Amino acid sequence: MEMANVRDAVNAVITAIMAQKDYLTAVDAKTGDGDHGLNMARGFTAAEERLAELPADAPVEDVLHHIGRAFIENVGGAAGPLYGIAFVRAGEAVNHQTRLDVHSFERLFTAGIDAIQRRGHAERGDKTMLDTLIPIRDAFRTENADGKSLRECLEDALNAGRAGAEYTKTIAARRGRAALIGERSIGIEDPGAMSSLIMFRALCSYLRG
Ligand SMILES: Nc1ncnc2c1ncn2[C@@H]1O[C@H](COP(=O)(O)OP(=O)(O)O)[C@@H](O)[C@H]1O
Ligand SMILES: [Mg+2]
Repeated sequence: MEMANVRDAVNAVITAIMAQKDYLTAVDAKTGDGDHGLNMARGFTAAEERLAELPADAPVEDVLHHIGRAFIENVGGAAGPLYGIAFVRAGEAVNHQTRLDVHSFERLFTAGIDAIQRRGHAERGDKTMLDTLIPIRDAFRTENADGKSLRECLEDALNAGRAGAEYTKTIAARRGRAALIGERSIGIEDPGAMSSLIMFRALCSYLRG
């Protein structure tokens, strides 16, 4: 995948999050404090301002770095700083590449997931964004990706992310605010798992053209 059009890809992601802002806030109101959509919108609004100062053809690592810094500096709560550090570390993992292949996606997602886990100490199955992000990453791993094109892996990853986000409905939260209500969070999807899915789904639709 050529990343010359990385800014268009980012715009597609931002548009999707803005369109789902009220939904994300409503889901968070059921198990948390009802601000997840607002937090994501604040982060991406700040990111847009920072990105406007970069050259239009800025490399993907710089774009990811600036999105991450925007989240870290402007968004409170749990998800803002977690997404922030994940974007920053994902940017570092891109490491001057201008073309992203299956392996780059694995490295980028692994770097983001590791950053989220180092900071938040959650595991898969705790009902967080990781329940979407880890299955997405796993679709790019050699054992699942061998012999497949990037397009096929993106499709598999989207299906895996969708299943992971759906799975959060069936489990009790063990991390974040929703853990305060524990078992009573069963039946409701995790807002962070949904925002991760919305972002990745928008990226995939963009790449499909
Ligand atoms: N320790 C954690 N590790 C990973 N993700 C987490 C953790 N704690 C919370 N989250 C994610 O953050 C989301 C909530 O984000 P948000 O509502 O923006 O922040 P807050 O919970 O502080 O109000 C949750 O749905 C969950 O996906
Ligand atoms: Mg919240």
